[in-house]
Amino acid sequence: MIYIGHNQAANAFVSFITKNEEAGWKKGEYLSSRYMIMEDKVELVVGLGEEAIERKKVANVCAKAMKEVKALEYTKISVDVSNLISYFGDAILYNIVEGLRLGISDLQHYKSEQKETEYSIYLTGLKETEEVKEMVKKAEVIAESVLLARKLVNAPANMLTPVILAEQLSEMAKECGIEVEVLDEVAMKELNMNALLSVGMSSGNMPRLIVLRYMGDKDSKEITGYIGKGVTMDTGGYCLKPAKSMIGMKGDMAGAATVAATIFALAKNKEKTNVIAVIPACENRISRDSFVPGDIITSMAGKTIEIGNTDAEGRLLLIDAITYAIEKEGVTKVLDIATLTGAVVASFGSVMAGVVSNNDEFYGQLERAAKVTCENYWRLPILDEYKKMLNSKLADISNMSNGGCGTITAGIFIGEFANNLPWIHVDIAGTAWVDSPCYEFQTNYGTGASVTTLYHMQTVK
Ligand code: BES
Ligand code: ZN
Ligand code: ZN
Repeated sequence: MIYIGHNQAANAFVSFITKNEEAGWKKGEYLSSRYMIMEDKVELVVGLGEEAIERKKVANVCAKAMKEVKALEYTKISVDVSNLISYFGDAILYNIVEGLRLGISDLQHYKSEQKETEYSIYLTGLKETEEVKEMVKKAEVIAESVLLARKLVNAPANMLTPVILAEQLSEMAKECGIEVEVLDEVAMKELNMNALLSVGMSSGNMPRLIVLRYMGDKDSKEITGYIGKGVTMDTGGYCLKPAKSMIGMKGDMAGAATVAATIFALAKNKEKTNVIAVIPACENRISRDSFVPGDIITSMAGKTIEIGNTDAEGRLLLIDAITYAIEKEGVTKVLDIATLTGAVVASFGSVMAGVVSNNDEFYGQLERAAKVTCENYWRLPILDEYKKMLNSKLADISNMSNGGCGTITAGIFIGEFANNLPWIHVDIAGTAWVDSPCYEFQTNYGTGASVTTLYHMQTVK
């Protein structure tokens, strides 16, 4: 799909220019392009703006170029990346390849008529060293993983139940040679995973706990636990969501999609690191014996929880999955990622994820990775005043804040179960899904948010 070097058969030639004024474009103008069609070939020049080209614009311009070539129906595309590399250095190839690969992709659909076009992209104007070739290969694997996460998020709830998700991920895990274990509802009951089961047993489609283990660094005892919320459908349960808010809730397993896609990419690229992904997968539905507000349940860690709202289900799954990851898998750091709160969407929209963390060093790792990937994250404060909002008169903690501050309190609730290990909580309720794209490299709906950053957290350590 993406190759290095010239190809005689190429019929579209893309290049990027930084000196917009020379080309007659306005100062600072970016994302504008010119093309010239000659016989059966097209030449496309994309402007990057005159000065201070930002790294975060690179994936966007690359995707924009691919969309134009695609619209003109050329399929063998030669991309001259020399200007981008001389400006940013070789590592920009991660962003270039991401933009090109995602820009050329279509929204995967379920229409009875499928049209598939094969594209070949040839990169020119880069050093043809082994190191650079390796980087391009790795970058393509990461981009494919972003597409996998999108595909899983977009799969409808009737086609992707927890059991089907477990089967599909098991199949993929075997393909990339990583260990997989799936716990059913009986095994989870034996482990007292009652917080998870109180949500999971609300549906006729049984819950699953999916464990993916990639141990790529035998010299290290460190294991990062990536815990991803896998609610394949969130109706809200008895605290039923209104129809408008329920649309898109098939994507409430985006955290699961992210951690699975990330661990597959790490394994395929043989990165030297240890990661165990734990995915609590279930539906949040209404049935005869679904949990209801006022219930008090005992989590795997032994803490009692008063249910204030059945729609705050994600945190219930995540805490039992975290306890499992710490007690049974021996993870030494915990990162949980989830489409957790409407509040994060209200604050940051689809462009920034909210983060809560108890550890500056671990958070620094996320920040450094985000500098490579150009995804946006914002760390929110942990204060005693916020903790108090989760007080319950009857149980150890409530699953619902009595004082608002939804994203922070949800994070703090989860952090109570991290046993003081370095912990990061990422709320991707806004970034995992776009009704219409905010960037050129996105398609409608699932975005594959945070796959690139979670991947690079393991390379920038
Ligand atoms: N899955 C939702 C959060 C969500 C909202 C994801 C919008 C994607 C887009 C979550 O389970 C939820 O319903 N959260 C509630 C919590 C509240 C009842 C404390 C929310 O944020 O409204
Ligand atoms: Zn919910
Ligand atoms: Zn949810």
